[in-house]
Amino acid sequence: MIERTFVLLKPDAVQRGLMGEIVGRLESKGLKPVAMKFMRLPKELAERHYGEHKGKIFFPGLIEYITSGPVLCMVWEGENAVASVRAMMGKTNPQDALPGTIRGDLCQQTGRNAIHGSDSVESARREIGVFFNDYEIQEWKRSVDPWLFE
Ligand code: RTP
Ligand code: MG
Repeated sequence: MIERTFVLLKPDAVQRGLMGEIVGRLESKGLKPVAMKFMRLPKELAERHYGEHKGKIFFPGLIEYITSGPVLCMVWEGENAVASVRAMMGKTNPQDALPGTIRGDLCQQTGRNAIHGSDSVESARREIGVFFNDYEIQEWKRSVDPWLFE
């Protein structure tokens, strides 16, 4: 099933110069970018995005971290995109994330885990709506698509 998922490269990924590496992995997988935006999250947008964690002990630190510098917000499309990106990210704590995953290969700690990806098709729909207008999402044909999708 072709799906869309929301992906955000966190301030540590941007500061460490890992945007190209991570975007490259998603591209190489055959996922198709349909939206991208480089921005500094206003506090209220960050709180809305991570609303499910409000009240948890790590919430204030999470908001401070995610608003501490620019982030790269994106929508990627592809077969089973939500679960596929989650698998490529690896576990939340980089120490539990397997080698070969983004967090397993590139990160040290939970509080600096480089990437966010929607955890369900439902959250993806909500998060895409929070970050992007319709005209910011591109419907486009890629010449390699017949070599990725039968
Ligand atoms: P994300 O939402 O960022 O894609 O990460 P996730 O689904 O793997 O993990 P989630 O449970 O949704 O947690 C969101 C983010 O909050 C920070 N966190 N810190 N110190 C802690 O115990 C703790 N737990 C979570 C991480 O940055 C995590 O990615
Ligand atoms: Mg999450």
